Amino acid sequence: MQFSIRSHAPEKLQTACLVLAVHAAGGAGGAASHVSGRAAQAADRAAHGALRRALAHGDLAAKAGSTLLLHAVAGITAKRVLLVSLGERRDYGVAAFREAIRGAAGALKGLGAKDAALMIADFAVGARGLPWAVRNAVLGVREAFYRFDQMKTQKKPPAPALGALTLALAAGPVTLQAQAALKEAVATADGADLARTLGNLPPNVCTPTYLADEARKLAKQFGLGIEVLERRDMERLGMGALLAVTAGSRQPPKLIALRYAGAAKGKKPKAPQLALVGKGITFDTGGISLKPGAEMDEMKFDMSGAGSVLGALRALAGIKAPVNVVGLIPTCENMPGGAATRPGDIVTTLSGQTVEILNTDAEGRLILCDALTYAERYSPEAVVDIATLTGACVIALGHVASGLFANDQKLADEIVAAGNDAWDRVWQLPLWEDYQEQLRSNFADMANIGGRPAGSVTAACYLARFTKKLRWAHLDVAGTAWKSGREKGSTGRPVPLLVRLALRRAGRR
Ligand code: BES
Ligand code: MN
Ligand code: ZN
Repeated sequence: MQFSIRSHAPEKLQTACLVLAVHAAGGAGGAASHVSGRAAQAADRAAHGALRRALAHGDLAAKAGSTLLLHAVAGITAKRVLLVSLGERRDYGVAAFREAIRGAAGALKGLGAKDAALMIADFAVGARGLPWAVRNAVLGVREAFYRFDQMKTQKKPPAPALGALTLALAAGPVTLQAQAALKEAVATADGADLARTLGNLPPNVCTPTYLADEARKLAKQFGLGIEVLERRDMERLGMGALLAVTAGSRQPPKLIALRYAGAAKGKKPKAPQLALVGKGITFDTGGISLKPGAEMDEMKFDMSGAGSVLGALRALAGIKAPVNVVGLIPTCENMPGGAATRPGDIVTTLSGQTVEILNTDAEGRLILCDALTYAERYSPEAVVDIATLTGACVIALGHVASGLFANDQKLADEIVAAGNDAWDRVWQLPLWEDYQEQLRSNFADMANIGGRPAGSVTAACYLARFTKKLRWAHLDVAGTAWKSGREKGSTGRPVPLLVRLALRRAGRR
């Protein structure tokens, strides 16, 4: 889908469908919606009050995201007018904005119009400004139009037709910031789509080798640097924890290092402003500590952290963001078998510390600890790992916020701000020393599990033992990376957050 932004009188826009925002009437229930935004009012004047009259019949439900389609409105050039409710004005905020965009996109999908123009300024949420509205409108529409049907032989209904969407302003010039926001949003949506598709692919297709091949494709397409470490490299380096997780699998493990260098060339070779480390377990059976059968298929999403790193790098390269970022992806399967790691096995990590593996299902932290130690060699200014790490995080925060942990409060604050900005939110949890004793082992430097209480915190505390030399944050996306049930599928989170974070670190607001 082609997105563009332009300034144009709404009533004269040549388009298959003009999308206008209207507010529900406040006060007692039952009152009709009314034409309140500038663009909608201008269009209504040109149509001699036809929009107002249509709403007066009460055909548009008050709920944000409800839509009403009008055909061939006299005085308006567009073939159709789609009225979208923003809900009640006093309740209007980000949640209603998202509902309105989702509703508009859903109606456009059903319509099969080949292009449309949406008067974006009337949708904007006061304090957040136009660039924000542009970014989030594009992301919302792209999410609504995303589909994953490459594994189906019968692709029905046929792919939706909307080929072009114009975000239009009734008045005022199109600013450079609005243009930049559009470019950022389209690239971010491309990155989120990549993360979604990698997540949705079945685990017999999306293997560690497949992820490495995808990374190589990205490298070629966008001119990124790439190295892929193989099992023998891991053995030579001494990545005992990563090797312990892959031991039961027939799929060869990989450690992918992808480098995007967009910052202006300085005198000395510039260290990356950011290293992103993504958990890439392409299937998590639990290993010898085998998981129960129910919903085990969802453990194909256990590489979502890896997918988000590839998605974020794709987005940043697409934007040509002035920043240097390295992505590190430890990837393997967690399988049972005759060669699998046993509960009780002790391994030596790349850091030299020893770990007693008391539960082979706590495998994410094992592959991450070696990748985090490996990240030291890039001397990054900050490191963020992204992992579907603990079921406990889903219990704590549900499917709304990702869990955030950090050994540096400034970095944590930056991530919270980026998450709010991208509406890809996180909530910080403690990383206090008091929890460390739960990782005590009688036989090694530490155990890989800390018992039931505060399971997400002790997982983060385990990682903290490997990041003492780094400014580091950890995102537990176990509850946010995918949806279960009827809508089962990857969400592409936290690609929007990661892109915003990298851009902020590059000095772009
Ligand atoms: N990939 C899982 C975490 C997970 C589980 C994410 C369910 C989303 C939904 C992780 O590898 C895991 O199995 N964690 C264990 C840790 C435990 C053994 C300490 C968990 O959360 O049960
Ligand atoms: Mn596990
Ligand atoms: Zn896992």
